[in-house]
Amino acid sequence: MSDSQLWDDVDAYFTGLLSPEDEPLRAALRDSDAEGLPHINVTPNQGKLLQLLARLQGARAILEIGTLGGYSTIWLARALPADGMLVSLEYDAHHADVARRNIARAGLDRVAEVRVGPALESLPGLADENPPPFDLVFIDADKVNNPHYVEWALRLTRTGSLIVLDNVVRGGGVADASSTDPSVRGTRAALELVAEHPRLEGTAIQTVGSKGYDGFALVRVVA
Ligand code: SAH
Ligand code: DHB
Ligand code: MG
Repeated sequence: MSDSQLWDDVDAYFTGLLSPEDEPLRAALRDSDAEGLPHINVTPNQGKLLQLLARLQGARAILEIGTLGGYSTIWLARALPADGMLVSLEYDAHHADVARRNIARAGLDRVAEVRVGPALESLPGLADENPPPFDLVFIDADKVNNPHYVEWALRLTRTGSLIVLDNVVRGGGVADASSTDPSVRGTRAALELVAEHPRLEGTAIQTVGSKGYDGFALVRVVA
């Protein structure tokens, strides 16, 4: 059996047992596919991890950068209390439309809001609204801007908030200091910012699974 078949089988076992999708989650992926969105959403067990982290944070406010069809949004928003809020930033208006429908079908449109535009243009406006500090920030958009997203996350969080960065492995390219790949460079710059910043502490973990070889970084706002 190939490694990737093995990873698929183990993910299917874990997911079936511990993080099965219900109809709104399945429908979100079905409609995302029908609308031509790429298959780059988190897996169900990764979604469940995000949900658990949000619950462990006691999250009342969540910021997501990179909505796609709202699949990770649904996992995260389900961790919120009825008066909680999730803001998800999405560059592509079609992705945002699909996501809004998926979020509404999941009954989460009162807590989760999608804002269209390049995240670096939406973030200043969001900050101007003086939102409550975000308890969890999920960074999952254009990797080249990851250092900027970490800086913004710092501005919009509190001591004890959690920042999660998706896709930090880049097929192993992240370890290549001489890489010219903008996604690798952005990811390395973000991790170096975490390493040197007095208000951040974090780690990064490699993963395998039905999405292949990847990984994420977990970062805590220290002070
Ligand atoms: N979090 C989603 C997957 C996001 S895929 C999930 O797991 O279900 C990355 C998304 O980021 C894509 O929809 C892409 O359009 C969006 N994106 C890319 N560049 C962006 C930018 N500058 N600002 C906001 N969103 C961006
Ligand atoms: C890609 C983006 C993602 O956020 C992800 O989780 C996987 C792949 C991509 O752009 O290829
Ligand atoms: Mg991702």
